[in-house]
Amino acid sequence: MLAYKNVGASYGGFQALKDVSFEVREGERVGIFGHNGAGKTTLLRCGIGDVDEVTGTVSYRGEPIVRGEVHENARRGVGFVPQGHNVFRELSVEQNLTIAGLLHDPGRVGEVYALFPILKERRAQAAGSLSGGQQQMLALGMALMTRPSILLLDEPCTGLAPIIVRDVLQSLRGINERSRTTLVLVEQNVQAALREVQRAIVLKTGRVIFDGPSAELAAKEDLWEWF
Ligand SMILES: Nc1ncnc2c1ncn2[C@@H]1O[C@H](COP(=O)(O)OP(=O)(O)O)[C@@H](O)[C@H]1O
Ligand SMILES: [Mg+2]
Repeated sequence: MLAYKNVGASYGGFQALKDVSFEVREGERVGIFGHNGAGKTTLLRCGIGDVDEVTGTVSYRGEPIVRGEVHENARRGVGFVPQGHNVFRELSVEQNLTIAGLLHDPGRVGEVYALFPILKERRAQAAGSLSGGQQQMLALGMALMTRPSILLLDEPCTGLAPIIVRDVLQSLRGINERSRTTLVLVEQNVQAALREVQRAIVLKTGRVIFDGPSAELAAKEDLWEWF
């Protein structure tokens, strides 16, 4: 569904990704792991066409991801939740959701509320006054407003309390299981994330050093040396 073929990515001559090849299949939940600077964010940004210096190809449903055309790629069904709580802080919860879905389907707000009932309770509240976990749910809800077929998430749980991390990861799994939305999840909470994804990919200085079942990675006794 989303296929990387011999992908290299650079920033002004510095190569952040080197010869990366893998394909995410429809309906899959994939975790991307690796130390800081390994290239995880760059990998996701290549998936939405947001990196300028790219070699090799990234394709979505057999057609190339168009470099520099993030909105067009999003319209085709590739959703992206960047790192940090990207919500309009002064606007209400419901205004945030409505704006995110404007070009698509404002009626979807009800589905997002069904998924995250706390957002319905707080729908008139300014987004900036929500807790970190609630803001992250709102950011997820905003991405879902465009009905993505595949959702790329960059560290959605960073800075959240462990119990909330579990909630957010389980919500993601629920989205995948209910609507078949394909998930590609970059996460620092490796152990928690490995329980919720089926497949793991590990990057080290821009190269893929592991691609296999998440259980296989979780069972490695030297797991901690990988990160
Ligand atoms: N906009 C940028 N300009 C220059 N270098 C960058 C930029 N973004 C990332 N890098 C570099 O590319 C490498 C990979 O970064 P990144 O993809 O953000 O890794 P990760 O998300 O795994 O921490 C790092 O060495 C980082 O410093
Ligand atoms: Mg990153």
